Amino acid sequence: MDLYEYQARDLFESYGVPVLAGLIADTPEEARAAAEKIGGTVVVKAQVKVGGRGKAGGVKVVHNADDAFAAAEQILGLDIKGHVVKRVMIAAGARIDKEFYFSVLLDRANRSYLSLCSVEGGMEIEELAVERPDALAKIEVNPRAGLDLAKAEEIARAGGFPEELVAKVAPVFVKLYDVYKGEDATLVEVNPLVLTEDGDIIALDGKVSLDENAGFRHPKHEALEDKSAADPLEAKAKENDLNYVKLDGEVGVIGNGAGLVMSTLDVVAYAGERHGGVKPANFLDIGGGASAEVMAAGLDVILNDAQVKSVFVNVFGGITACDAVAKGIVGALAELGSAANKPLVVRLDGNKVEEGRRILNEANHPLVTLAATMDEGADKAAELANAAK
Ligand SMILES: Nc1ncnc2c1ncn2[C@@H]1O[C@H](COP(=O)(O)OP(=O)(O)O)[C@@H](O)[C@H]1O
Ligand SMILES: [Mg+2]
Repeated sequence: MDLYEYQARDLFESYGVPVLAGLIADTPEEARAAAEKIGGTVVVKAQVKVGGRGKAGGVKVVHNADDAFAAAEQILGLDIKGHVVKRVMIAAGARIDKEFYFSVLLDRANRSYLSLCSVEGGMEIEELAVERPDALAKIEVNPRAGLDLAKAEEIARAGGFPEELVAKVAPVFVKLYDVYKGEDATLVEVNPLVLTEDGDIIALDGKVSLDENAGFRHPKHEALEDKSAADPLEAKAKENDLNYVKLDGEVGVIGNGAGLVMSTLDVVAYAGERHGGVKPANFLDIGGGASAEVMAAGLDVILNDAQVKSVFVNVFGGITACDAVAKGIVGALAELGSAANKPLVVRLDGNKVEEGRRILNEANHPLVTLAATMDEGADKAAELANAAK
């Protein structure tokens, strides 16, 4: 989960990373009030989860509250790389002497952490990384050893900081690593970290990504989630503890077990090539216990996807036997009533398959077609989706 800049700012503050005052505003009026409260020169900053806001006109320096109002009016509603600005942060203005770059991130390929650092930070960092890669230091941070002051100094020197600045920035690097470690982040990036004309080091922009797999250790992280920005279907699936990922096709897929669902996606994609190029609409693993409620919740999510034209339910009965799954499907269809309005192809196999098929045959639901094999089911579901396109 990526955080907004203002959320990163607040986290930084709680870890003792030096930041400036910042208040959020959703309207120009709120922006004016925030600017009055902070006083003096302020910066109105678009809050969108994408970089390059400065270059896109999403960061404006103003010198009084009325100008903050006008700047917020311009920035709110602005489209920055497909992200529409709904909120701005009013930040105290810094008098910048120099801009630096620092980040620490999860290096999956090397099963380690990596710190990137440069004395030449700011809005041109991408160009710098391409044109003069040597100016951007890349230093491994051993997760077991962590990032202590000595390591921070090593990183700063590698990033080209002169000795007098090494002493100033290294303690801030250590605190930023505390944020990374303490919050189970996969990225903490500050660009720019600045030296002010008064000689202070301040984090002026922050980007933080949190590891959702560690969410159970951080009850506070849930509140950081932007529910309004999430895909409504994914949000609904999450509420029901379903493993759901929306894809861009027409055939809804439900299965039990991640491996089975992954291979079902492949088989549906292959079948789709014979039927007008239809594709899987989603990944949905209902897990081991395919009860009527779980099946209903899963079907409810998939049937609410307007793009879905048919659904392929592919279940291998194990501990949860096929008869329970079949009852689940019948129960789910009854529960959903007229909301169940798209053809369903069901393939059952494994434990108690005969009973399962008998239950579905007896229910004789007009929308349900039974398939004997996975390939046959995928083919039928793709055919039905193509016919309904
Ligand atoms: N609080 C601030 N005071 C003064 N200048 C700022 C402030 N925040 C940002 N800036 C300037 O605006 C530039 C872009 O802002 P930044 O927050 O880094 O956005 P982005 O990285 O999305 O372009 C910074 O490099 C800095 O020069
Ligand atoms: Mg920046």
